[in-house]
Amino acid sequence: MVPLLEVKDLNAGYGMSQVLFDMSLHVLPGQCVSLQGRNGMGKTTTVRSIMAQLAHTSGQVLWKGQSIDRLADFEVARLGIGLVPEGRQIFPNLTVWENLVATARAPKQSEGWTLERVYALFPRLADRAKHFGNQLSGGEQQMLAIGRALMTNPELLILDEATEGLSPLLRQEIWQTLSALRENGLSILVTDKNLKQLLTLCDHHYIVEKGQCVWSGDSTAFRADASLKQRYLAA
Ligand SMILES: Nc1ncnc2c1ncn2[C@@H]1O[C@H](COP(=O)(O)OP(=O)(O)OP(=O)(O)O)[C@@H](O)[C@H]1O
Ligand SMILES: [Mg+2]
Repeated sequence: MVPLLEVKDLNAGYGMSQVLFDMSLHVLPGQCVSLQGRNGMGKTTTVRSIMAQLAHTSGQVLWKGQSIDRLADFEVARLGIGLVPEGRQIFPNLTVWENLVATARAPKQSEGWTLERVYALFPRLADRAKHFGNQLSGGEQQMLAIGRALMTNPELLILDEATEGLSPLLRQEIWQTLSALRENGLSILVTDKNLKQLLTLCDHHYIVEKGQCVWSGDSTAFRADASLKQRYLAA
């Protein structure tokens, strides 16, 4: 099966400091994949490289088997990759409604994402439709960031720190939402610090250390190796 997304031997960094060293991973159609690792190991840098927000020095990013290395960031977004970025980055001076429609793309199929469907998924956003981005709580902002990404009708949803900074109750709500999206057939690449939830939600996992993939496998393999958490994820 041709992967939906493939990252192949990617080298990237900021100025003189190299962060990714032959980083590789892939997401198959319909798969839910986690990218894990301690702070500063290169998860966000990988995501930013995929989205062409950061140029890589060598290696490849492939979408459905085709290189997308030469595309600009807005072109990558248009391919069908929806991003929920680290820190949410919603537009603070736009209303909830404006945030949702600003980058929306019409669904290819009739059952695609519309404003109505996003409001049905997150009723709180409907209640807050006329509020500005900077008037929302952290949880509402994350819902908005997810809603905004869904409004681009992506084939792959990438969430960088899916539940960071949220209350336990809201975290639970986000995990349930991701599980429902996954059931719906959406492919997902997610970074987060909550191992238990990631093992439940995702089929496949990558652990990144110092910009390199040091382990990958499914949830059963992860659970079977008790040393992984201590070796690569513990603070
Ligand atoms: N804009 C930047 N300029 C220079 N160095 C950066 C920049 N952003 C990140 N880095 C460095 O790149 C390395 C990887 O950072 P990155 O944000 O990719 O890690 P991460 O795995 O996402 O961490 P976290 O779990 O804290 O989100 C770190 O050493 C970080 O300090
Ligand atoms: Mg990060």
